[in-house]
Amino acid sequence: MECVDATKLEQIFQRYPQNESSLIMVLQDIHDLFHFLPCDALTLAAEKLGVPLSRVFSVATFYKAFSLKPKGKTVVRVCMGTACHIRGAEQVLCEIERNLKIKRGDTTEDLGFTLETVNCVGACAMAPVVVVNEEYHRNVTPIEVPELLKREGEPHEN
Ligand code: FES
Repeated sequence: MECVDATKLEQIFQRYPQNESSLIMVLQDIHDLFHFLPCDALTLAAEKLGVPLSRVFSVATFYKAFSLKPKGKTVVRVCMGTACHIRGAEQVLCEIERNLKIKRGDTTEDLGFTLETVNCVGACAMAPVVVVNEEYHRNVTPIEVPELLKREGEPHEN
């Protein structure tokens, strides 16, 4: 248990019954804590809940909301739904890739940013839409990208 805070994990386990029925809730809380699911934490969850590790991994990989890789402090989600695509989302996405020097789906080495694409986020009238740490930015143009990224990057509290 090198890279995870065992005390905080223990607090999570104490919130729920120690059996398989708690698995998803425990994984959600671990994800909220670390912003991904560290391997050590999954192993400990399997032990604490008495669930095979294979079952824990199967649940962890089934739900798209869970990530097994560390995410950046700032998560940038570019909507690539039809409305956004038609109104220039690809150009915005390429400009973000160029600025961050990563490709879609990747995280910068310093864990500052993760860049993801999503399908319609329900704000088509504002297309193209970029969601930065849950904040919606509308009618984004490539020229606005450097400013958009400069404002972000606040660290997560762990
Ligand atoms: S397609 Fe982007 S918000 Fe709907």
